[in-house]
Amino acid sequence: MNSRLFEFGDQKWVPEWYHDGLHDYLLFFYRTFSYHKLWREDLEHFIESEKNEFVLECCAGLGECLPMVLEDSSVLQRNHKRVLFSDLFPHKRAVEKFKDSNFYSYCSFSVDATEVPKSLETSKVFINSFHHLNPKVAKKVLLDSIESNNRVLVLEYVSNSIVAYLTMVCGASLTFVTLPFVVQRKNLFFSAFFTYIVPLFPIMLLWDGLVSCFRHYSLKEIKKLLGAENANLDFTMNQKRSLFLPSGVSAILIKPKKEVQQKAA
Ligand SMILES: C[S@@+](CC[C@H](N)C(=O)[O-])C[C@H]1O[C@@H](n2cnc3c(N)ncnc32)[C@H](O)[C@@H]1O
Repeated sequence: MNSRLFEFGDQKWVPEWYHDGLHDYLLFFYRTFSYHKLWREDLEHFIESEKNEFVLECCAGLGECLPMVLEDSSVLQRNHKRVLFSDLFPHKRAVEKFKDSNFYSYCSFSVDATEVPKSLETSKVFINSFHHLNPKVAKKVLLDSIESNNRVLVLEYVSNSIVAYLTMVCGASLTFVTLPFVVQRKNLFFSAFFTYIVPLFPIMLLWDGLVSCFRHYSLKEIKKLLGAENANLDFTMNQKRSLFLPSGVSAILIKPKKEVQQKAA
């Protein structure tokens, strides 16, 4: 369960060209293979069922993925909901980008997913980020949400399976043919050197992809993590596959039974 191997993408000492390149490739894969769209139904349903005015995306990075999953803001408009993005290391660029949006905003201050301020307590969504949390932190995030009678939706495109490992190998190998079209021009020199002369960039991408797979929490592992608390919770899991992502994406919803009872009453 959730291997403690490190990811280069989580390390502050790793040069910026790698962080930028990793981010450029994540977006490139979303845009090219569209597997993020497989989450749309689960995310829409999650937003539609929200009792508060907004949902919080924790560990949101630049906040680029969630709007891509929804494609348009119709579910937010119809249900009068908003999405608040947050991260331990908020990005100024993202705060600026969403400041005039009717449906999205980005928290300008640091929000630790384990210490969410009371004023931001609502249901939380994690996109491609829950596996970054170690078991102790992941458990605290889930228990805090449940205690405040809120739900947690965990969306992941990695899984701990042979097919997923092979997908990561294919993804990293693609850098050799796509690099000049994907990375930002300012990083092209270093990225090209560390791809075509010394193939460090694809190796680091492969490492991060494989470690993400090893760190992925299955539903069984989440239940094991929560131990006795399981009795008070409802779990739903959806897995969808596509031709380009045969290992599939997963959506795990964890909600307190108390909430179910309140809704039924
Ligand atoms: C893979 S990245 C961003 C994923 C993003 N949701 C996406 O799909 O592009 C993971 C993010 O988790 C954030 N993070 C890590 N630990 C955190 C914590 N305890 N609380 C809040 N954010 C955290 C990091 O700062 C980083 O931006």
